[in-house]
Amino acid sequence: MRKPIIAGNWKMNNTAEEGVALVKALKPLVEDAKCEVVVCVPAIDIPAVKKAIHGSKIKLGAQNVHFAEKGAYTGEISAKMLLEYGVKYVIIGHSERRQYFGETDETVNKRTLAALNAGLTPIVCIGESLEERENGLTEKVLDRQLREGFQGVGDFSKLVIAYEPIWAIGTGRTATAQQANDAIAYIRKRVKRLYAHSNAGRMRIQYGGSMNAKNAKELMAQPEIDGGLIGGASLKAEDFATIVHFDK
Ligand code: PGA
Repeated sequence: MRKPIIAGNWKMNNTAEEGVALVKALKPLVEDAKCEVVVCVPAIDIPAVKKAIHGSKIKLGAQNVHFAEKGAYTGEISAKMLLEYGVKYVIIGHSERRQYFGETDETVNKRTLAALNAGLTPIVCIGESLEERENGLTEKVLDRQLREGFQGVGDFSKLVIAYEPIWAIGTGRTATAQQANDAIAYIRKRVKRLYAHSNAGRMRIQYGGSMNAKNAKELMAQPEIDGGLIGGASLKAEDFATIVHFDK
């Protein structure tokens, strides 16, 4: 019932030229994909990548969006600007944005609502730090992020949540399939409780954090995991295509 979604997060990698080469290599490899395939690229790569993926299965995503429609926000990009280039998805609240760029649950909430209002599909990232996990605070942190980051969302089938334990991102230390499944089950249960009558049952929840060509199959076999948000392994066409074909 929930269509799996595998999304690449290129982060600050690939010039437009490199990005085009990557999606050109990827296109033939994912043509028979049964899941949704998305690449979230640096903003400046968007026009070139849009052209390069034309006529393929691959959908275009951005890595952030501002909450205002327009105005004096130097360095920011609006939903309307993304939509003009065929962007369908946008990552919001990635832990790197929270850690290095002052993103908070409040700004995540504003960006999420703005993206939804504009018709973009937000991929909203939540997840605990290593210290929080070791102190038994995982559920408490997720609960806070769900309460504060999603206020006012009317229909959860229109967004994607990415559960990304911070200790697993870029570290090679993947959460076990069980840990990922348990946390995602908790998220779904909490959303249903906190936001009754909001289509929470149809919301898709990805796992992210050192997901790769080797472990994707096991993670994706978990009943609660509806997809993956892939950093490092999305930068190689073959690896990303292997993840996309987790069902083979
Ligand atoms: P990683 O990144 O796959 O390189 O761990 C995931 C992410 O940050 O979205």
